[in-house]
Parts: sequence; structure tokens; C-alpha cells
Amino acid sequence: MDLGIKGRKAIVCAASKGLGRGCAEALAADGVDLVICARTKDAIEATAAEIAAKYGVSVTPVACDITTEEGRAAVLAACPEPDILVNNAGGPPPGDFKDFSSDDWRKAVEGNMITPIALIHATVYGMMERGFGRIVNITSFSVKAPIPTLELSNGARAGLTGAVASLARKVASDNVTINNILPGPFDTDRLRNTTRAIAEKTGRSAEDISAERAAGNPTGRFGTTQEFGATCAFLCSQYAGYITGQNLVIDGGSINATM
Ligand SMILES: NC(=O)c1ccc[n+]([C@@H]2O[C@H](COP(=O)([O-])OP(=O)(O)OC[C@H]3O[C@@H](n4cnc5c(N)ncnc54)[C@H](OP(=O)(O)O)[C@@H]3O)[C@@H](O)[C@H]2O)c1
Repeated sequence: MDLGIKGRKAIVCAASKGLGRGCAEALAADGVDLVICARTKDAIEATAAEIAAKYGVSVTPVACDITTEEGRAAVLAACPEPDILVNNAGGPPPGDFKDFSSDDWRKAVEGNMITPIALIHATVYGMMERGFGRIVNITSFSVKAPIPTLELSNGARAGLTGAVASLARKVASDNVTINNILPGPFDTDRLRNTTRAIAEKTGRSAEDISAERAAGNPTGRFGTTQEFGATCAFLCSQYAGYITGQNLVIDGGSINATM
């Protein structure tokens, strides 16, 4: 399906691998030129070269920490007038509420709430003027079903969700949409690293833990970055102008709820 966004420009944050890369690849497959970022220079440059070679689009890598003002400025300098913005960053660390300091909370809010809000603020008004804009925030299914060990993530991401809920309605008449995708378990390094950490703590093998978790999902498996990217690309398409202010859970049905 031609998504009608060939030649559009997108910023995809935190995209050298995992879900961000899945989004970048799916947009590139539809002819979108990209600015992608991650902190590790070699990795983001290699990813940019691979995507450009595979899909024949322009891909500019920016090595930066998107959760800093300098990082955001560098990305915006590389793409001052994006048509599409995919907000993403690493997630806050796990732990327990009793151990989190105010600084831990500030860091989580800075990374997973203020950073996407700042990028939206810098780009949404230009999108409105130009009459086209698609903004997708990668959050987490923890916004809907809180994860006990991830209170920093539950809280910061819920804050972003609340902030954009009203903004999405304010910008819709200019053909600008804002949606959140709430991933469940996807087969990425982040998932593999958390599984390894549980394995070390419990003495069980990472393979056993992973197999048990996948089997507990209604689909019997984890999601793929290709599936995630294709969903993101559709939300960024010409045809998704009537979908806004939504929180789309992609979790293989693991949240057991009717709606
Ligand atoms: N995978 C899942 O099952 C799942 C489920 C729910 C929510 N999520 C959330 O979705 C987001 C992406 O997860 P993922 O699974 O794709 O992780 P991943 O496979 O570990 O990839 C993370 C990507 O983000 C980049 N990155 C991290 N922090 C960054 C920063 N401060 N500035 C710029 N780039 C940064 C990483 O590169 P560098 O390290 O080089 O910067 C890498 O390219 C995270 O917030 C995660 O918590 C994931």
C-alpha cells in the first residue's frame, strides 16, 4: 500500500536499533527522507547508511542524547521543518518507589515527558502552517497497565499522554495528528537486557524466562520491530488524518481488557 508520504521529511528519535529503527525503516520504505538519532555515533551512522542503501532515501544520522537541550537542538538543526516526528528515547530504569529520589523522577520526566513535549513544541506550529503533520510518541503499555517495577516509566509516560491529549484536538483542523503507540513486549535489546537482569537475579536461564514470557502472551510470542514500524508508518500516512489523540496498544492482546 502506498501511504502517500513519499518525499516527506521525518525525524525519528532513538533509532539506531529496536522500535525506533523499525519506525525509521518503515517510513523509509515509503520514500520518506529521515533524520535519525542515537547516542552511539558508530551505531547511528551504520544504521543511517544501511537504511539509505536499502531504500534509496536520504538518511542523516545525528549522534546525540535526545534528552538534552543540545541534543534536541542538533536534531532540529538537521531537520528544522519535519512533516513527521516520531518521539522515542530509552526508558527509565526499574526499581522500587521507596528507593527513587527526586532526581530519579526529574530524569524520568525529562527523558520521557519533557523531551517529546519540547520536540512537539518546536515542530507542531510549522506543521500546522504547512497543513500536514504526523506526530507519534512511543510510550509503553505501562500507561494503561502499570508495571510494578517501572513506576518512573508509568508516571512520566502518563504525563506525556495527558499533555498531548488536549493538544491533539487543538491541532487537528490543520491536518496535524498526534497519537501514542503503547508497545507491549517487543523483541529488542531492551527486552533481552531486562530478561538477562531477571536471569541474573533469579538464577534461572534467560532462555527459560523469555520462553515463559512469550508463551504467556495470547500470540505465544513477542512483537517484531517490523510490525511496530508498519503501524507507526500507517499513523504517519496521508490516510490517517482522521486518527488523532489515540493510544494504540500493540501487545499481542496481553492486557486482558474488553476496551
Ligand atoms: N521493547 C519493548 O518491549 C518495549 C516495551 C514497552 C516500552 N518500550 C520503550 O520503547 C522505547 C524503545 O525501546 P527499544 O526496545 O526499542 O529499546 P532498544 O532496542 O534498547 O533501542 C533503544 C534505541 O534508543 C537509543 N537511545 C536510547 N536512549 C537515547 C537517548 N537518550 N538519546 C538518543 N537515543 C537514545 C539507543 O541508542 P543509544 O544507546 O546509542 O543511544 C537505541 O537506538 C524505550 O523507551 C522502551 O522503554 C519498549
